[in-house]
Amino acid sequence: MTDTGSQLQNLNIGDQKKVKLEELPLFEFEKLAAATNNFHLSNMLGKGGFGPVYKGKLESGQEIAVKRLSKASTQGLEEFMNEVLVISKLQHRNLVRLLGCCIEGEEQMLIYELMPNKSLDAFIFDPLQRKDLDWKMRFNIIEGIARGILYLHRDSRLRIIHRDLKASNILLDDEMNPKISDFGLARIFNGGEDSEINTRRVVGTYGYMPPEYAMEGFFSEKSDVYSFGVLLLEIVSGRKNTSFYNDEESLSLVGFAWKLWNEDNILSVIDPEIYDPCSENSILRCIQIGLLCVQELPKERPAISTVVMMLISEITQLPSPNKMKSAMTIKEFRVNATGSKNSIKKGKQTKWLLGLDEAHDHLMWLMMQLDNLIKEREEMDRKHHTNP
Ligand SMILES: Nc1ncnc2c1ncn2[C@@H]1O[C@H](COP(=O)(O)OP(=O)(O)OP(=O)(O)O)[C@@H](O)[C@H]1O
Ligand SMILES: [Mg+2]
Repeated sequence: MTDTGSQLQNLNIGDQKKVKLEELPLFEFEKLAAATNNFHLSNMLGKGGFGPVYKGKLESGQEIAVKRLSKASTQGLEEFMNEVLVISKLQHRNLVRLLGCCIEGEEQMLIYELMPNKSLDAFIFDPLQRKDLDWKMRFNIIEGIARGILYLHRDSRLRIIHRDLKASNILLDDEMNPKISDFGLARIFNGGEDSEINTRRVVGTYGYMPPEYAMEGFFSEKSDVYSFGVLLLEIVSGRKNTSFYNDEESLSLVGFAWKLWNEDNILSVIDPEIYDPCSENSILRCIQIGLLCVQELPKERPAISTVVMMLISEITQLPSPNKMKSAMTIKEFRVNATGSKNSIKKGKQTKWLLGLDEAHDHLMWLMMQLDNLIKEREEMDRKHHTNP
């Protein structure tokens, strides 16, 4: 199926020190051509910004999806292979597996596991198909996407910012579990840089981009949180964020949702296909989480770890989302929460007398502290790893 060593010897890529040849799953072009019926149009699953994607079946019987990159990578072959190797090692139940790559002549291809139910957009935006997705299934999809992002941002140690989260990049397995695809493509195309940086080439998809990214090219983990918020609102409403071109009152689903929220009419955003009085609370809670994620100021948006906590713990009260809230800093939270007005000392213990809103804010502050502690701990672990 794959050829790991011999092919690379023929590639004449110079210094191969960084690429661990034996670990990189390389696929032969000929075998991929045979698997996809010579990249036949009838095997094409779709076409995205990086090129067409073909369905294929290897000799072993394994079904694959082959992404034939039409734009040459902006980096050298060695870096390309390094990135593929690193990304192919990521494994999580909510990420599509990258099985390997093929590099021959001008060709660069990425090989993924095939997802039988294709992508989420084919379901939620289709008037017939979306009837098959009830609220329970949609909630499972929302939660799975959040867990996949959490893995990319935190648990994978690579701290990958996806930068192109959208319904067509959420694939569905045979049980309709969501799997995020195309993670790490930004790394492959930008030479592995993936931190909080300013990029001249804005990649991503209009409608899912947060304001700071679309306007200034500035991205961070909170950009993914914004895109997740848009996705969540799309899943709940069954409407595309960009399907509002002719609407005079709102330019997007996000704008529409803010409008309804401010008018105390947010129930109207719910897809009638999933509305059921028994699920109303759970749906409303999700919408509120979605709105927290699409707040304009990145620092107002919760980290994805907080989002996961908010999704799974139904008793946690949520803060009230605000399109553009005058931001309260963590320091101000602390001053507020520890101010003498709100607390009375009782022996060595402090008893809190907080209003409900302040209690929510305080809880959010505690969650953020927890986030910071986890980050610090990871940082220490990493340092310890590199300087034992
Ligand atoms: N592993 C896969 N299994 C099944 N279908 C896939 C797989 N990968 C992609 N597809 C299908 O191929 C289509 C094109 O995917 P592709 O990722 O190239 O484009 P996109 O997601 O629309 O845009 P982008 O280039 O921004 O990711 C998707 O809509 C999806 O339905
Ligand atoms: Mg894609």
